[in-house]
Amino acid sequence: MLPESFRCFHVRKTGNGLIESSVESRPLHELPPGDVLIRVQASSLNYKDALASQGNPGIVCSFPHVPGIDSAGTVVASESDRFKPGDAVICTGYEQGAGRWGGWAEFVRLPAEWIVPLPHGLTLDETMIVGTAGFTAAQSVLSLVEHGIKPESGPVVVTGATGGVGVISVMLLAKLGYQVTAVSGKPDQHDWLRSLGASDVIGREEVNDDSDRPLLKSRWAGAVDTVGGNTLATLIRSLNHRGCVTACGLVGGTDLPLTVFPFILRGAKLDGIDSAQCPYDRRLQIWNLLSGDWKLDNLQDLVTEISLDEVKSTVDQMMQGKTHGRHIVRPT
Ligand SMILES: NC(=O)c1ccc[n+]([C@@H]2O[C@H](COP(=O)([O-])OP(=O)(O)OC[C@H]3O[C@@H](n4cnc5c(N)ncnc54)[C@H](OP(=O)(O)O)[C@@H]3O)[C@@H](O)[C@H]2O)c1
Repeated sequence: MLPESFRCFHVRKTGNGLIESSVESRPLHELPPGDVLIRVQASSLNYKDALASQGNPGIVCSFPHVPGIDSAGTVVASESDRFKPGDAVICTGYEQGAGRWGGWAEFVRLPAEWIVPLPHGLTLDETMIVGTAGFTAAQSVLSLVEHGIKPESGPVVVTGATGGVGVISVMLLAKLGYQVTAVSGKPDQHDWLRSLGASDVIGREEVNDDSDRPLLKSRWAGAVDTVGGNTLATLIRSLNHRGCVTACGLVGGTDLPLTVFPFILRGAKLDGIDSAQCPYDRRLQIWNLLSGDWKLDNLQDLVTEISLDEVKSTVDQMMQGKTHGRHIVRPT
């Protein structure tokens, strides 16, 4: 028997245009249309969720809104041949929690083509510790591998290293045998980053060059950048010959102050990483890695579990850059 209502984190726009949010009980029929109804066991908190929960117009298309770009749970009703009640499933990205209601709720209703069967080798909770952040980290690391960056090529640097994407990138690269330099603005977390596989930890200022030199001293074989702005530009200018940088984030800015010289004199490679619209086959490939050869045994070392009632204060912390690791959100 399905309940008539469900708890969710509900974001609204008031008459005078202000954004407000609260944990609410809403009628089940308010869920958007879709093939598959899922009882959510866990969701997660990503930077994009933090922005969505504050009604960011670049992410949220209409109000009221329920954030949560990730969800993991059990199918309770399905109009699709691909899924039946009782199936354990996950969904990360697409329009979930952005263009339509997402996983910060006891139930989510989704199109079947967005849903991935629970990858063998991971629990539902573990998929949410990974979440979009870890999926993005895996895509970034796979990009470096595909661009020919090998452990023997030289050091690889990861920015925003205590954040969700950053820390899982550090762990994956270390697991694959790379020498990883973590960049972090949190001196009190440097030992934690070393315990998770970083060979070296440096401050943000070391990868934020303000000079107008088009090329800097070659330093990195590869880089996973989550920060953007001048940090990304500095990394591109500091790559070894034929090195590669992946770019997924914008916490440090959206401009890219750069010349063409790193590309035409050093053969620098810049690969953009987009997780929300990652094609389904590529998605399965990434989850197969994350649940198989690239499985991280110490995921529990990263996670803090929060309830829907604790989301708002955790978002405030995240927006001040004070969180570290991953948060899973428990809707019940
Ligand atoms: N393209 C995609 O598909 C995709 C997918 C997932 C995430 N993202 C993006 O990737 C970025 C990271 O996401 P996340 O979920 O990992 O966020 P997060 O957990 O909040 O981590 C961001 C980290 O960046 C560092 N940081 C924060 N403010 C900074 C600033 N002003 N300058 C330099 N570093 C700063 C902090 O690490 P330290 O204190 O250790 O330096 C922080 O922990 C976000 O921009 C997000 O939107 C994109």
